[in-house]
Amino acid sequence: MSGLFITLEGPEGAGKSTNRDFLAERLRGHGIDVLLTREPGGTPLAECIRELLLAPSDEAMAADTELLLMFAARAQHIAGVIRPALARGQVVLCDRFTDATYAYQGGGRGLPVERIALLEDFVQGELRPDLTLVFDLPVDVGLSRAAARGRLDRFEQEDRSFFEAVRQTYLQRAAAAPGRYRVLDAAAPLANVQQTLEALLPELLERCRG
Ligand SMILES: Nc1ncnc2c1ncn2[C@@H]1O[C@H](COP(=O)(O)OP(=O)(O)OP(=O)(O)O)[C@@H](O)[C@H]1O
Ligand SMILES: [Mg+2]
Repeated sequence: MSGLFITLEGPEGAGKSTNRDFLAERLRGHGIDVLLTREPGGTPLAECIRELLLAPSDEAMAADTELLLMFAARAQHIAGVIRPALARGQVVLCDRFTDATYAYQGGGRGLPVERIALLEDFVQGELRPDLTLVFDLPVDVGLSRAAARGRLDRFEQEDRSFFEAVRQTYLQRAAAAPGRYRVLDAAAPLANVQQTLEALLPELLERCRG
């Protein structure tokens, strides 16, 4: 058996979590065995690394430290959760994955893409998402959705240009491999976004049933 690995990407406030839950409910309604998870995190140890990554701190975190912590959490998540779930034939819906590392640590922080690709190969081997949904959102809309939630985490405190680079990196990656990505307009009303996901469902179900 081999499951299906679907990741949801996009900036803060784009609707990844909301739509991950929506998609899970729709797939489960069709009898699909779905596992929901997220990055950074997804196991107790990886969630501890997440806290290190998101907590604002007086000591500036070096960009390479951030990158390595992301992949350390990912290694744990893959070994403990993602690979076992896929081996059981489950559909894994993961809120953020390595595209976020390219977008935030690559685009946002300016780390070389080769360095990220090296760690991707090292930590993941052949493992790549089967499908990645990119929830695309103008930077200002995302920032105001994040601000409306209150206290900002370490990433949310970055400036506009950081998030502009994040957005462009996601769009470039999607354009470079259109077979693996679907870009959704996350600024549209939620009902419209979910209609788009609904339209994707027959194809997803077909792929889930292999
Ligand atoms: N298309 C939409 N239109 C309007 N509001 C939306 C839309 N999608 C999500 N929201 C709202 O925006 C907020 C953020 O959504 P959600 O938590 O799903 O985003 P997220 O991408 O998971 O964010 P984060 O990366 O910060 O976890 C929620 O209050 C949600 O109801
Ligand atoms: Mg979320």
